[in-house]
Amino acid sequence: MPKTRLMIALDVPDLKPARLLLEKLKGLPVFYKVGSSLFTLAGPAAVDLAHQYGGKVFLDLKFHDIPNTVKNAVANAAKLGVYSISLHLCGGAEMVRAAAGVKKRPELWGITALTGFDAESFARAGFKGSIEEAVFNLADAGVRSGVNGIVCSPREAAAVRERFGPGIKVITPGIRLGKTSDDQKRSMTPKEAARAGADFIVIGRPVLKAKDPARAAAAILKEIE
Ligand code: C5P
Repeated sequence: MPKTRLMIALDVPDLKPARLLLEKLKGLPVFYKVGSSLFTLAGPAAVDLAHQYGGKVFLDLKFHDIPNTVKNAVANAAKLGVYSISLHLCGGAEMVRAAAGVKKRPELWGITALTGFDAESFARAGFKGSIEEAVFNLADAGVRSGVNGIVCSPREAAAVRERFGPGIKVITPGIRLGKTSDDQKRSMTPKEAARAGADFIVIGRPVLKAKDPARAAAAILKEIE
């Protein structure tokens, strides 16, 4: 079993609350995720800020475009010095290969089926077959094309881990501390995700909205130890 690491999603409105949060979490052994909402507003300064606090950064911009555009975006992300970046595996093998071919690039993590989907909304979006089938087909194609990690729900994590072995990282958002009814549909607790073999669990709101985010993060770290 790999050691499971905690990655905090910096899904805050601006750099000021980002700094406040980083200040609170200072010293905890966590990674940070900068996603499209903060990056759209603050840009590379958001990444720099997390780096200033010593955190490794997952730049989760979920690239999905023609191969040449994605290749250039990956090359630019590499200049930011981030640890990893994401791209949608449904962008196709050619796109993923173009991204994987970038020299000195960050780790490339492939998004399979977003954790906000359940079976019904997945079918309504026009996808055929089950979510699990889609996750495995996309992951197979992604690994063949050179990704270093697979982003999936914790429910699929154990099977993905078993299928690809220790050479491919498993990253699971959709982590909830208890029962909730928000936009994460295929969620599990930190402990369950760790037991399923996740290398990284990605958590946003359960920490961001906690009264004491540092305490919440520390409790999660203990749970996944
Ligand atoms: O607040 P919450 O814990 O739901 O945050 C989860 C984070 O992980 C969000 O930033 C979301 O964009 C991201 N994510 C996800 N599902 C994926 C990939 C990334 O929820 N498949």
